[in-house]
Amino acid sequence: MTAFTANSFAVSGGRNSCRSFRTASFRKKHTFPSSSSSSSSSSASPFATRASAKTSDDDDTAKMSPPTRRETVLLAAIVGLTTAVATTPSHNSSFASEEGRKQTILITGGNSGIGKTASEQLAKLGHRVILHARTPAKAEKAKKEILFTQPDADVVTMESNCDLMDLKEVRGYCQEVLEYLTSSKSGDGGEENGSNVKKLDSLILNAGIMAAPYELSKQNHESHFQVNHLAHFLMYENLKPALFANESASKGPARVISVSSLLAMIGELSLDVNDLDFKNRKYDKWYAYGQSKACNILFADDLAKENSISKLVANSFHPGIVTTDLVRYSFPDLIASKRDPERERWIRERARRIGIRDADEGCKTHVWLATEDAALEKSGEFFVDPGLVYPGATRKQLVESGDWFLVSGEEFLAPQLQFPERLFDGWRNDETRVKLRERSQNMVNDFLL
Ligand SMILES: NC(=O)c1ccc[n+]([C@@H]2O[C@H](COP(=O)([O-])OP(=O)(O)OC[C@H]3O[C@@H](n4cnc5c(N)ncnc54)[C@H](OP(=O)(O)O)[C@@H]3O)[C@@H](O)[C@H]2O)c1
Repeated sequence: MTAFTANSFAVSGGRNSCRSFRTASFRKKHTFPSSSSSSSSSSASPFATRASAKTSDDDDTAKMSPPTRRETVLLAAIVGLTTAVATTPSHNSSFASEEGRKQTILITGGNSGIGKTASEQLAKLGHRVILHARTPAKAEKAKKEILFTQPDADVVTMESNCDLMDLKEVRGYCQEVLEYLTSSKSGDGGEENGSNVKKLDSLILNAGIMAAPYELSKQNHESHFQVNHLAHFLMYENLKPALFANESASKGPARVISVSSLLAMIGELSLDVNDLDFKNRKYDKWYAYGQSKACNILFADDLAKENSISKLVANSFHPGIVTTDLVRYSFPDLIASKRDPERERWIRERARRIGIRDADEGCKTHVWLATEDAALEKSGEFFVDPGLVYPGATRKQLVESGDWFLVSGEEFLAPQLQFPERLFDGWRNDETRVKLRERSQNMVNDFLL
């Protein structure tokens, strides 16, 4: 069994125009069934079979050789991801902004995939979207496309390049964002807090690459590590003046939303805080992705732990298995431009049935975490979307709970799989979190504003 096998499941895996959305506030409490009360619909999983064999027949269990740590983690990854390919419970809740307030939200990778659809949906809710893309041309193209369907959308783009493979460009981009937020162009400023910077309400760290061949960034960092984590770490550091602007005023805390993946669960095998750039170990493109996605979770955890919830709320999440061009390196024939439009509808319908969603559906957690009041009650959590038929909670229970979001906690994943402990085993801890922060800080020091 290889990491590739485990991970290949993942690849399958105007402003005024939408006031009605904003007035319908969604106030559901996010309570989930406890694992003890859940009937285990999961017994189909290999782990469940193993677990029940253990309890029902000790003799047989004694004959089984225990799985190695590596086998266990990879099997858990496969089970988690195949189980993730489950039907999404339907939901009717509409997204509403925090008390109908217009927010300013920066999203990275807003020109493609779920970053693009999140930008569209956030704009539709009446928020101002600062749409980041690798180049101004890409950002402008996406903006035009959004304005085509929503002429009143408030989408802002910058003039600087911002290839995340170059921390210098990230610094320049952040400088321009801060200048924009200080200028009269951005509307009411932050004077009430003694600062000129207007608040950046949410920072959605979404851009990413997956399973790319080995490549070093301009600063000599492994590409997944730099694009998916380090560049975003620097962006946060440089945008702090805006994120913390007006923090004592009535406006709520800033939100940092880190788009991770269930593939982070291979962090135990792939995350090495002493060799984040794969300089002293063999490069594996899936380990590189898994490591970077584990970094996304640790980064959000770190922000949540280091800031009070009244100032900053930080969460990470898995958006589900979404048909986007993220597969460009692993399954190049599956990118949108190569798919046959004739067959597209047929495939889409079937893919949906097994839980693979299109980008319109796949961005719902971005939007929810950025806009909902309920999301402000959670910080430092890892969310999984969609609500899945995980062993720890039946589909019925999830549907009855009225939401499709699952927060890491005992209540949501299989006791048999020892989730979430196994999901995060060995790496989602304070020691690794702090080490990652210290190393990242050293790496970006020269690029701080
Ligand atoms: N799709 C899924 O099933 C899935 C599952 C789990 C997690 N995720 C996560 O979701 C996030 C969004 O992915 P997606 O599925 O929407 O994929 P996507 O369509 O490939 O979008 C990725 C975005 O990141 C940008 N990006 C990549 N490298 C960059 C760089 N060096 N500089 C600047 N921008 C860069 C891309 O810009 P260009 O267009 O210029 O390349 C694009 O806008 C990723 O973090 C991914 O890990 C996705």
